Amino acid sequence: MNFDYSILDSNERLIFALRSLYSGYGYTQYKMSKFEEYDLYSKNKDFLVSDSIITFTDTNGKLMALKPDVTLSIIKNYGNTKDGVSKLYYNENVYRVSKGTGSFKEIMQAGLECIGDVDAAQTGEVLLLAAKSLAEISSDFVLEVSQLGILTALIEKITDSKSVFSALLDCVNEKNIHGIDEVLTQNGIDTAAADSLKKLLATYGKVNDVMPELEKLLKESGLSDELDEFRASLEALDGSEYKDNVIIDFSVVGDVNYYNGIVFKGFVNSVSGSVLSGGRYDGLMKRMKRNCKAVGFAVYIDMLDRFDSEKLSDDVKMLNIALPKGRLGNKVYDMFEKAGFECPSIKENNRKLIFENKELGIRFFWVKPSDVAIYVERGAADIGVAGKDILLEYEPDIYELLDLDTGKCRMAVAAPKGFKDDTNYTLKVATKFSNIAKKYYASIGRDIDIIHLNGSIELAPILKLSDVIVDIVETGTTLKENNLEVIEEIVPISARLIVNKSSFKFKSEIIEKIATELKKLTEEKDD
Ligand code: PRP
Repeated sequence: MNFDYSILDSNERLIFALRSLYSGYGYTQYKMSKFEEYDLYSKNKDFLVSDSIITFTDTNGKLMALKPDVTLSIIKNYGNTKDGVSKLYYNENVYRVSKGTGSFKEIMQAGLECIGDVDAAQTGEVLLLAAKSLAEISSDFVLEVSQLGILTALIEKITDSKSVFSALLDCVNEKNIHGIDEVLTQNGIDTAAADSLKKLLATYGKVNDVMPELEKLLKESGLSDELDEFRASLEALDGSEYKDNVIIDFSVVGDVNYYNGIVFKGFVNSVSGSVLSGGRYDGLMKRMKRNCKAVGFAVYIDMLDRFDSEKLSDDVKMLNIALPKGRLGNKVYDMFEKAGFECPSIKENNRKLIFENKELGIRFFWVKPSDVAIYVERGAADIGVAGKDILLEYEPDIYELLDLDTGKCRMAVAAPKGFKDDTNYTLKVATKFSNIAKKYYASIGRDIDIIHLNGSIELAPILKLSDVIVDIVETGTTLKENNLEVIEEIVPISARLIVNKSSFKFKSEIIEKIATELKKLTEEKDD
């Protein structure tokens, strides 16, 4: 049969290439049904990217679900290999809520699982296949690798509290070194306890460049065995043509209940999020009562919808910086200017929104303060400045590189003077920050009704729309003039430098330069 391959679109071609790659390494295709019993997912919700699942009732009354994930189905049906390994690959549709639109989407996924007596050599082969999968998409890719065992051992040396552990893991995921200090201080732990963790987070780069430093650090911490295992798995890539595409970066984390050992993520230039994700998931096998090990990854084909590796636009080559429109934005721009990243046209009195300095390769644009995080998370901006209030409210998947020590205020609960909470009633809380308010009241165990408003929040308790408000307090003038007062402080707020995770890999030089110069300015201010 003569088949005209040119009729395939780029994603279809990629799927064919991946099938041929995986079968060339002895992987066999695993086909599965579009649905499973809902129970499989309800028991393992934390493993899933989102816990929203499409369900329906079968003719026998059983609650079924359209597959939101492939790995769980494979383990359920195949996970009892004791001797040797089972090598399986798939390309299947999964049904998930898209983060962007908030509605369900059918997503094509390809990937592989290696299940059984998995050792460093097999893990290495899976890493190599992850690199080769990325190379099928674009030659300009980065495979970022971490070792969860090392990371969790270092965090466990700092704390045995589950909540502090998970707060620290969140900071690691955001490369948020100042956040680590904030968490420790809030919990009465000496910040020096996290010195090794901070060093680990700051040690990233090509394998051979960072290994000597890691060896020293992990020897001091008694984790040499874990490093040896990590090194053994990375050996498969050492002799390959992809060794320069592999970066050790301990900010890659996974749920520690499921993943252990190596975890990794793949990025290609100009796609704003990771296009491949995987790791060793012996923890998941154990939870599903399978007496063996496993490693695997998925390629997110839907992320490549509009991707064309041949055409990198000029937007991709410039560093795009989103600044919050208004007073804070002006202050922050002045910091960029002092740090040597100026763009004089920004000071011209007009209504333009985008300003370029072609020589420096940077482009600023003004956006609504609450939108900065979205621009950065989706990669329309490479970096940006957002208030911590916005980051806590929207929880974007970004790096938070720096506390800029400006735009300082606090998130607080305020109420009419003399207010007394009557716990016989559900407390009515008006706010622009529903997520922050919900989390705060859940942490103190108070039942509330949220009234989400978009501005002039102080009016709500005056007109009896709510009992209290959760809002930003800067000078306190608005509260005072409206006869309200702070009754509880939730968290201090300031402006943060945030970075798109993919941009950080492909524009690291200029981003790190900006972060270093801005950091110097904040330190000079402290002196
Ligand atoms: C913010 C906040 C308070 C005010 C606090 O409002 O929501 O209303 O600033 O500042 P102060 O303590 O210095 O008085 P913003 O100006 O953003 O407008 P908004 O009411 O539309 O949210």
